Amino acid sequence: MNIGRDAESGWRDLRPTILGLIDSTGARNVLEVGGGRFPFLQLDEIRERGLELTVNDVVEAELKLAPDTFAKSCFDIAGNLPDDAELGSFDFIFSRMVFEHVKDARKAWSNIYHLLAPGGVGFAYVPTLWSPPFLFNRMTPEVLSAWVLKKIDPDRRAERVPKFPAYYDLCRANAKAVAPKLAEIGFREVVVTPFFGTPYFPVVPVLKHVARAFDRTVEALDARNFASYAYIIARK
Ligand SMILES: C[S@@+](CC[C@H](N)C(=O)[O-])C[C@H]1O[C@@H](n2cnc3c(N)ncnc32)[C@H](O)[C@@H]1O
Repeated sequence: MNIGRDAESGWRDLRPTILGLIDSTGARNVLEVGGGRFPFLQLDEIRERGLELTVNDVVEAELKLAPDTFAKSCFDIAGNLPDDAELGSFDFIFSRMVFEHVKDARKAWSNIYHLLAPGGVGFAYVPTLWSPPFLFNRMTPEVLSAWVLKKIDPDRRAERVPKFPAYYDLCRANAKAVAPKLAEIGFREVVVTPFFGTPYFPVVPVLKHVARAFDRTVEALDARNFASYAYIIARK
């Protein structure tokens, strides 16, 4: 599958990429980490593949807002795994826009490694450093960055799409910054696909053009340290 390198492609191709990985690896037992109130897979996608899906989140209230059509499991992916966690049982573990909120990404990836069956695949879709809007988000006090985001995107409020504090630990589109850390945990293969540009800045006209020019330049140069999103894929 050919995936574009712009941020829109990252969003658009996420579903075919996740389903493609599930299908091509023959995964049956699947865990979504941080699925919250909007779990990613749809009922027909789960049923037609005969998947055993578990949706995780660290916030019980978020999980309660999710449909009751699959198993739910409330725990911190970067904490100590629950006593009843079935180690080595999942074929595919994925997350969308979750790992940037995790303070200790090494611990989170290590838990994923332990939860995966041998040969199983972990997948994280993350916003990445040193993309300027995410660098701004990381450097700015939460109250201020939440206020700015609400100005840019009025949907970003607690009742609709809440904003969670972000740390961006190991959220990098440059494989050199990620692969050695995942290899230390034990992952055999790591692939990082970068995406360039973000939908942020649209309300600030001058900044919008500067940001677009910056994104086009870093994409043309394939300067992955300044990419904005990545698919991080690791096989146990
Ligand atoms: C930005 S939301 C994304 C929700 C969903 N994945 C989506 O794409 O719509 C981040 C989610 O990750 C959850 N989360 C944050 N830290 C977590 C952790 N350490 N373990 C599990 N879930 C976590 C939050 O509670 C929240 O539901």
